[in-house]
Amino acid sequence: MLHEGKIWVGSGVNGPVYLLPSMANRHGLIAGATGTGKTVTLKVLAESFSDLGVSVFLSDIKSDLSGMVRPGTMNESLEKRLKRCGVLEEDGSGTFDFKSYPTVFWDVYGEQGLPIRTTVRGMGPMLLSRMLGLNETQTGVMNIAFRVANDYNFRLDDIMDLKCLIAYVGEHAKDYTINYGNVSVASIGAIQRSVAMLEDQGGDVFFSNRKLDISKWIARDEHNKGYINILAADRLFNNPLMYSTFLLWMLTELYNYLPERGDAAAPLIVFFFDEAHLMFDDCSKALMDKIEQIVRLIRSKGVGVYFITQNPTDIPMDILGQLGNRVQHALRAYTPLDQKAVKVAAQTFRTNPSFDTEEAITTLKTGEALMSFLDEHGAPNVVERATVLPPQSHMGPISAEDRNRAIENSPMWRFLDR
Ligand SMILES: Nc1ncnc2c1ncn2[C@@H]1O[C@H](COP(=O)(O)OP(=O)(O)OP(=O)(O)O)[C@@H](O)[C@H]1O
Ligand SMILES: [Mg+2]
Repeated sequence: MLHEGKIWVGSGVNGPVYLLPSMANRHGLIAGATGTGKTVTLKVLAESFSDLGVSVFLSDIKSDLSGMVRPGTMNESLEKRLKRCGVLEEDGSGTFDFKSYPTVFWDVYGEQGLPIRTTVRGMGPMLLSRMLGLNETQTGVMNIAFRVANDYNFRLDDIMDLKCLIAYVGEHAKDYTINYGNVSVASIGAIQRSVAMLEDQGGDVFFSNRKLDISKWIARDEHNKGYINILAADRLFNNPLMYSTFLLWMLTELYNYLPERGDAAAPLIVFFFDEAHLMFDDCSKALMDKIEQIVRLIRSKGVGVYFITQNPTDIPMDILGQLGNRVQHALRAYTPLDQKAVKVAAQTFRTNPSFDTEEAITTLKTGEALMSFLDEHGAPNVVERATVLPPQSHMGPISAEDRNRAIENSPMWRFLDR
């Protein structure tokens, strides 16, 4: 929750542990084994960002984030937690506001939220190739196809346009091989099969000439709260390549659109990417370099990126090194491999002489975490063991009816390109 302009994430033996809004664009990591409290922690952060007027994007894989449209309610265990955190006094005095947040639901398939669309051209050849699972040679052909489309000014909006383009390039393969590079019949066939597969899996709905301008997500409601954009990702997640490419597309879009901003009191928007390890699976070297570059540069455009994953080792080192704000929930240490992962996770923190980081990681309770955020100079603070605050909005999901009502009441006009 917001306290004296800072984000109060949890409390340890030395009192509150804060994330500084001015350092929130230095990215972050929320890690931990399943069921240890990662989603609740991200809710606590997202709520405070919204209170600060910062927009938020969340990918919701387990459908457990929709409760943000409703205020939370007190119960015995929350009261205990609030006392442990020093928000409430032992006699129950003090205040903790339960409140709802301005939430907009999105869904690539348009079923559980407003649809998100882009054009094939807007996705670009590199991300499209990854979404289609193309190999290096086939990606080369896709690059050529995009060059042809640009040179001849072909329309490249929906999946039909893409199919026509690939067929056209295939028919004229000989000409293009001379001018652009090798276009083999085998590669054309493989691309066509991948496009058909994407269509079968419903992936074609994402491409349309009615492109969503996601920079419009950077907006506040009438009470000056940042909008919380929740992407229903349960169905999308069944296709991990599409899910993760989609997240990368959003980052790329914002990166391309937003101007340089430099350091500021708070970010413009913060992204939380759940199951973040998927973003880096099956990435070509060129794409990995691109992601690393975007993550490094996007912070000066006012965008914070928070990765949520089980273990810090799931994130490539070049990117992990850029995540300044860290929350580590419990990890299991059953096997030698687990133990090694715990060691690596512990080494990412600046040690606190009062406890053993490695041991603490394996003994944290649910909703407890090791935290280290950047200080006002951008240096990581010593790690603290802390109890995470509860969220101010409703903890669980809401009913389908409540969700539909929230979708119908969305300020659509603000977001959709009509
Ligand atoms: N800060 C907290 N305040 C109150 N309850 C909490 C807190 N953190 C965790 N819990 C409790 O623990 C449960 C599990 O937490 P959560 O869903 O955040 O785990 P997770 O790490 O996201 O799990 P998964 O990997 O399965 O998604 C919550 O439903 C809630 O009951
Ligand atoms: Mg979770």
